[in-house]
Amino acid sequence: MEAETRNILREITTHSAEETIAFGRTLTELLAPPKLVLLRGDLGAGKTTLVKGIAAAFDAAAEEDVTSPTFTLVHEYRGPQANLYHIDLYRIDTLRLDDLRSDNSILLIEWGEKFPRLVRERDVEIALEREGENGRRIRVNRSD
Ligand SMILES: Nc1ncnc2c1ncn2[C@@H]1O[C@H](COP(=O)(O)OP(=O)(O)O)[C@@H](O)[C@H]1O
Ligand SMILES: [Mg+2]
Repeated sequence: MEAETRNILREITTHSAEETIAFGRTLTELLAPPKLVLLRGDLGAGKTTLVKGIAAAFDAAAEEDVTSPTFTLVHEYRGPQANLYHIDLYRIDTLRLDDLRSDNSILLIEWGEKFPRLVRERDVEIALEREGENGRRIRVNRSD
């Protein structure tokens, strides 16, 4: 319901991790820095998989080098035009996100929706939903 009141910019159903990565590669313009991006979706929905495509498209990391920041909390991928911070807030609520924000930063945050402040301050929200084993519905919204 929330999503319906917002501006849906892109919507796709992918059928494999590779398709989700390919979709992530198409989002560079939409995610031009500075951005705070919330990645929503259950465990295994494909949030980290999508970041592989985003980081690769910004020349910030090879797909295979993008892994879940679950235990490390923040992974930093530096590209020529943008520094990407892939953040997992599942277990933590004290991370100093403000320190990471700058004109050329893109914060890609998993489990950020637990924090009302981040929901207020997000620029883009990407919601991923499972549809069967390998299907994933992906919606990209801009908050205005
Ligand atoms: N269409 C799809 N898009 C993304 N991942 C998929 C898809 N189909 C199957 N998968 C698998 O689902 C898992 C998604 O894991 P991950 O990206 O780590 O999710 P999350 O970060 O949301 O917990 C991976 O094992 C991936 O191979
Ligand atoms: Mg993840």
